[in-house]
Amino acid sequence: MRLLSVRLIVSLIVGITLVSSGFSYYEVLGEKRALRSDVERRDEILGESLVGNVERSWNAGSPAGPNKELQRLVQRFGNREHLLGVVICDRQGTVVAVTTELAKTLTGCPGPMAQAITQGHEESSFLRLGSTPVHILGLPIRRQDEVLGGMAVVHDVSYIRAQILLVWRQTFFRVLAQVFLIVLITLLIVRWSITGPIARAAVWMRALRTGKISFHQEVPDFDIFRPLVREVATMAESLSHARNAAENEARLREAGESMWTADRLSVQLRTRLEDGHLVVVSNREPYMHQRNGKALEVVVPPSGLVTALEPVLNACDGTWIAHGSGNADTEVVDAADRLRVPPEDPRYTLRRVWLTKEEEEGYYYGFANEGLWPLCHIAHTRPLFRAADWQYYQEVNRKFTAAVLEEIENVAKPMVLVQDYHFALLPRLIKEKRPDARVAIFWHIPWPNPEAFGICPWQRQLVDGLLGADLIGFHVQSHCNNFLETVDRVVESRVDREHFSVLRQDHRTLVRPFPISVAFSEDDAAENNNHGFNYLERSALLRTLGVEATLMGVGVDRVDYTKGILERFLAIERFLEKYPRYQGKFTFVQIGAPSRTHIKRYHDLLAEVEAEAERINWRFQGGKWKPIVFLNRQHSHKEIEPYYRAADLCLVTSLHDGMNLVAKEFLAARRDERGVLILSQFTGAARELRDALLVNPYDIDQTAEAIRAALEMEPEDKELRMRRMRKVIKENNIYRWAGNLITELCEVRLDAPEDVPGKVHASATVA
Ligand code: G6P
Repeated sequence: MRLLSVRLIVSLIVGITLVSSGFSYYEVLGEKRALRSDVERRDEILGESLVGNVERSWNAGSPAGPNKELQRLVQRFGNREHLLGVVICDRQGTVVAVTTELAKTLTGCPGPMAQAITQGHEESSFLRLGSTPVHILGLPIRRQDEVLGGMAVVHDVSYIRAQILLVWRQTFFRVLAQVFLIVLITLLIVRWSITGPIARAAVWMRALRTGKISFHQEVPDFDIFRPLVREVATMAESLSHARNAAENEARLREAGESMWTADRLSVQLRTRLEDGHLVVVSNREPYMHQRNGKALEVVVPPSGLVTALEPVLNACDGTWIAHGSGNADTEVVDAADRLRVPPEDPRYTLRRVWLTKEEEEGYYYGFANEGLWPLCHIAHTRPLFRAADWQYYQEVNRKFTAAVLEEIENVAKPMVLVQDYHFALLPRLIKEKRPDARVAIFWHIPWPNPEAFGICPWQRQLVDGLLGADLIGFHVQSHCNNFLETVDRVVESRVDREHFSVLRQDHRTLVRPFPISVAFSEDDAAENNNHGFNYLERSALLRTLGVEATLMGVGVDRVDYTKGILERFLAIERFLEKYPRYQGKFTFVQIGAPSRTHIKRYHDLLAEVEAEAERINWRFQGGKWKPIVFLNRQHSHKEIEPYYRAADLCLVTSLHDGMNLVAKEFLAARRDERGVLILSQFTGAARELRDALLVNPYDIDQTAEAIRAALEMEPEDKELRMRRMRKVIKENNIYRWAGNLITELCEVRLDAPEDVPGKVHASATVA
């Protein structure tokens, strides 16, 4: 930095000096020219007025020898400013009259006067007389046409030199002042904007490297280095993860444990896929770009599927194909509709598929969410099946198939993981074109019993489409069983209940449970220096919501009729009614992300939930306390985390749920090993999390009782349950989910000739 400053100063000095000197040189030349022409002009005026007098005096007397009359005349003119003198000579160059001062230095007839006599017209020039710089104007003295002699006006011009020197001196001081000021200002700017921020950034980076601060903390503002600092923060995060992963691996090896981590998954995928490529397809995209006025925002949509799959894609650098539903999504993709995400630290490719309004309406809102969603969730909302929606559903499945085929076009051993009920037809459509691709579909929602599923008019086509896959995954075994029974009733096939597979038209499909999870990893545990929220912090959090309470419960859901939000509110009401001592103390915060509000049922539900919260609040509230705070907007994971960590209990009361990742996120957030999970027995998660307080959400009294039990539970009991449940999700994290699914899919032996992509259909057998 010192070298930079020296270079900068030297360059500034040289530059400013050269520029200023150049300008001054031209200034001096101009000044000199002006002064000289001033002298010439003045000598001319003087010469012309004097020569007339001289001619008259000359004609009157004798010109030979010194002339008194002329001497008087020149003497009279001789005492003007800077005038050295006047001299008159005859034709032969003999001095006739000369002023006294000039006589001292003059040795004869000056050159310009001699020329004026011989050439008969005036001559002027700048020259030196002894050591004095002078200007001499020589004029001929005439009588009619005859030249009688000459006259010279001699001007001392040494003052011009003095004037020039003065200009140069001023230039010198001006340059000095300019250099000083500019160097000073530059150095200050360099210090404020470059060296200062660099020094602060270096201190910050050192603290980051030595682990004194966390990359989670807000990145300080380092002026022009802000973008660089953001990159460094991301790099520090990666380094920290790598360090934790290495330590973790070493620890696990030491302990002989077999934990799944992001790194293990990524190594496993690279080994299993060889040169292959992982493609994930889902309707919902992991990042939506939204334009809000001039600002471009990146939104992570509220979706359990997104929460679960994002860490998998981050670990594997695959391609995620999804519907581009953000209003600015088209602005940020390349010509092939792709972009790298996550935006802060790109690790995989997102390929967006565009849908028309009609397609979205028919396929997404209509068939998927008004048909299949209520069909698969037994939550007493009647499914609606419209023929037009079914047409769009097929069309959109074909559209996504085309996108998948494009993404795997030059890939030798592609692996495609299709997600959820939006794409039941995709597995068969893909396999028809690429029998060499390994295709799995994971059904994120429950699969009901065959009678319930049987009301769908297109159940045969849906089941057939699914059976195109090599592997079908559900969260729990009972969903697998329901599916196999449906297959048995609906299509021509051989169901093998011993190996949980289906053989249809020579193609075998495995059906397996893979309980999905969250990215609980040792990274979280490494930050375990945090002892959670204490009583005061919880109160502070509630105060930000304008409520005063000492006990808090939390619920986080999309506002969906399957989530049992109304039943939950009724249970809270019952609890406060039954145990009035908790009035004024216990507040429940419901974070509710509005969802699918374009559908009337969802739109109405949002209003119902709001009205119910208001009714219960009106009944009990007093002072600054109220029983329910309903936060009706989407919250980011970062915003939700403090609520998870501050809550005494988390309520998950789904009427029916494939898995429910909120329950697992709550557990992952409780590094303090406190807090109680109240969990609906109708969630997939209830099969794994046996230490939660399991409830039937329809039984309002039972849930109210569970709330009381959670608040009054002995701390040791709470800690024991929490520790055990955290162990379950730590061991069965999302990396294990993906690892198991991929391992299973890789073990399927494909009979298709690998060199003939596009050839129709081949069978798959279990290895
Ligand atoms: C469930 C589905 C997901 C879906 C999510 C959010 O978890 O299984 O596929 O993404 O709900 O619903 P949305 O319709 O907003 O994507």
